[in-house]
Amino acid sequence: FSLKKHNTFGIEAKAKQFVAIHTLEELKDILELKKSDKKFILGGGSNMLLTKDIDALVIHIDLKGKKIIKENEDFVWVESQAGENWHEFVLWTIDHNFGGLENMSLIPGNVGTTPVQNIGAYGTEIKDTFVSCEAIAVKDQVIKNFTKEECRFGYRESIFKNEAKDQYIITSVVFKLTKNNHQINTSYGDIISELAKNNITNPSLKEVSNAVIAIRQSKLPDPKELGNSGSFFKNPILLKSEFEPIKQQFPEMKYYEISETEVKVPAGWLIEQAGFKGKRFGDAGVHKNQALVLVNYGNATGAEILQVSRNIQETILKKFGIRIEAEVNII
Ligand code: EPU
Repeated sequence: FSLKKHNTFGIEAKAKQFVAIHTLEELKDILELKKSDKKFILGGGSNMLLTKDIDALVIHIDLKGKKIIKENEDFVWVESQAGENWHEFVLWTIDHNFGGLENMSLIPGNVGTTPVQNIGAYGTEIKDTFVSCEAIAVKDQVIKNFTKEECRFGYRESIFKNEAKDQYIITSVVFKLTKNNHQINTSYGDIISELAKNNITNPSLKEVSNAVIAIRQSKLPDPKELGNSGSFFKNPILLKSEFEPIKQQFPEMKYYEISETEVKVPAGWLIEQAGFKGKRFGDAGVHKNQALVLVNYGNATGAEILQVSRNIQETILKKFGIRIEAEVNII
């Protein structure tokens, strides 16, 4: 079974077996039935690089549905099943005038995988509105509810990438959103300038969402047109003590202070300075508008993209003494 259409990088890789799941019952049954088989869980396929065929039963989570589960005067709790497309879910919340997810418009992937790496963009992360998620244990099909604390969210991190890796399948997620007094977040420079283009000073949720969509479309390639997985690397976090001597040597280096002791450096800047932006190596390449994004021009293999990523990592380490780490899951 070809997985080319099931990963946004558009990599040709084969699954030994493939099953799409539409109900919780089906999911329980298949886990029970295939207890001893090797399994691989697939959501939207938007954050992985397949470097080889999958010698396992691929379970594609296609659980659908979204609803309001609770509300009071100021807030609403919405629950989405894991297989809902993230961006469509965000648009649905905005259509209902529910605030909190607008800055994360147009992120590829499905709702069920958003907690895994605590997706984020333009000054917000899902942990800001996340309440809990429900997951089923692969081993014994016991359903567990994970609170926000239990998820241990960090920058593109959660328990699902660490201690609980491969042990649970997230089936639904609950977010707490505002019904009024929306906390519009335009702290990110790009949003302010995008809104200013249209003379908007007091934006609605929809206007923020539209600004984010415009920025993303100008920088980030559409996976339907050019295979990619968004940011391929994380922005490295350095101790100020490590950063100071580097900054001395490269005074123009961009950085953001993230705590008293740490700074975050945009990996896109490092990659661009190292000369990789827009470079193509066969069918694998570095996007021309955003150096943090690796792209597949058509028939690149996962191994070829991985090779480019390693080449970038080594060059950055040599040039700046900074280690950058993949954000995408390398399979
Ligand atoms: N930059 C360059 N050259 C580039 C790209 C970026 O010099 O080719 C510099 C620019 O100076 C810019 C800075 O890097 O000021 C930051 O760039 P940008 O605002 O595009 O954001 P980013 O740090 O590259 C992160 C997230 C994105 C998210 C944006 C906006 C990570 C790994 N990536 O990218 O998330 O959309 O901020 O909030 O944190 C993703 O995770 O897949 C993703 C796309």
